[in-house]
Amino acid sequence: MAMVCVHIRLVMAAIALLILTAAAPASAQQPSSLDPNANAVNEQQLLQEFERIQGRGSIPDAKSYVIEQPQGRAWRQYREVTLPLIGTIAMLGMIVLLAIFFLVRGMIRIRSGRSGINIVRFNAIERFVHWMTATCFVLMALTGLNITFGRVALLPLIGPSAFSSWSLFAKYLHNFLSFPFTIGVILIFFMWLVGNIPNRVDIEWLRRGGGIIGKDQPPAYRFNAGQKIIYWIVVLGGAAVAVSGYVLMFPFYGTTIAGMQLAQMVHGTVAVLFIAVMIAHAYIGTIGMEGAFEAMGTGTVDLNWAKEHHSLWLEQERARNGPGELQRQPSATPAE
Ligand code: HEM
Repeated sequence: MAMVCVHIRLVMAAIALLILTAAAPASAQQPSSLDPNANAVNEQQLLQEFERIQGRGSIPDAKSYVIEQPQGRAWRQYREVTLPLIGTIAMLGMIVLLAIFFLVRGMIRIRSGRSGINIVRFNAIERFVHWMTATCFVLMALTGLNITFGRVALLPLIGPSAFSSWSLFAKYLHNFLSFPFTIGVILIFFMWLVGNIPNRVDIEWLRRGGGIIGKDQPPAYRFNAGQKIIYWIVVLGGAAVAVSGYVLMFPFYGTTIAGMQLAQMVHGTVAVLFIAVMIAHAYIGTIGMEGAFEAMGTGTVDLNWAKEHHSLWLEQERARNGPGELQRQPSATPAE
């Protein structure tokens, strides 16, 4: 019996040895069973983690233990190089384009001259909301651009003491003006929504160059396609800077470091593009087109201006008020 047991043990040991020797070379020849792209061995990730400086801390805010990290360097590159580049190209590019356009096209005149009859275009509430939002926008643009460009463009000119006093004031102004600016954008959204819903007339207006490019005068209702584009840029751009701006203003309320970095990138990028568009808006509302500024200045426009730029709106106004009702105070410039 003992001999049988010894034989069984020997046979089992031989089988085990056979399995081991068969399996060992098989696994040794198949290193590819490991995924070289798996996170644990991703070389790119290892390189990115290089130069991460993180310590230990005693305060509850664990974010503060990280002194330096790869993602932070990528964000810093965007904030200090890419964003100022985008801003410079967009804003200076727009100014150069408008200057060339002005030299080529000049001011768009009222072709049939002034009629001497003014009609109401924007009431007092509309003008108040427009100018409140516009004033906030200009001041927020200047104080915001101080954050992006001030250290390079202004600090060498006025010195550290004046620059820090101005920057502190500018920062408070930027923060506090955010409230009337947000209210203004919301009011603009509701006040002019109906007139800014795109329709078929807009396609025709755009196809015919809007009377800005070329000499055509395509019909338009109260707002033409160009003004509708501006309206939606203000509403959507305003919402984007407001949401991202409040995330920056109340840091880490439900956001991480990555969330804060994203908010800064969205805020800065949308802001500089927004400023470039508003430069074009201000151009066409002043030196770009005769008779346009009055609409937001006094609230009235010349009848011939309305005929040439918003003929369908004029028809609507006539049908609503009767032709006599449209005639308000005679304009300062008599008809020629
Ligand atoms: C509700 C509206 C807004 C809020 C709450 C807001 C808030 C902020 C905050 C908190 C910052 C960061 C300041 C810092 O780094 O200390 C900032 C930066 C900035 N804001 Fe605004 N902002 C608003 C609207 C605007 C508008 C309308 C513009 C432009 C016309 C603008 C342009 C900028 C610019 C250019 C920066 C600097 C971006 C950078 O280089 O980091 N902001 N804003």
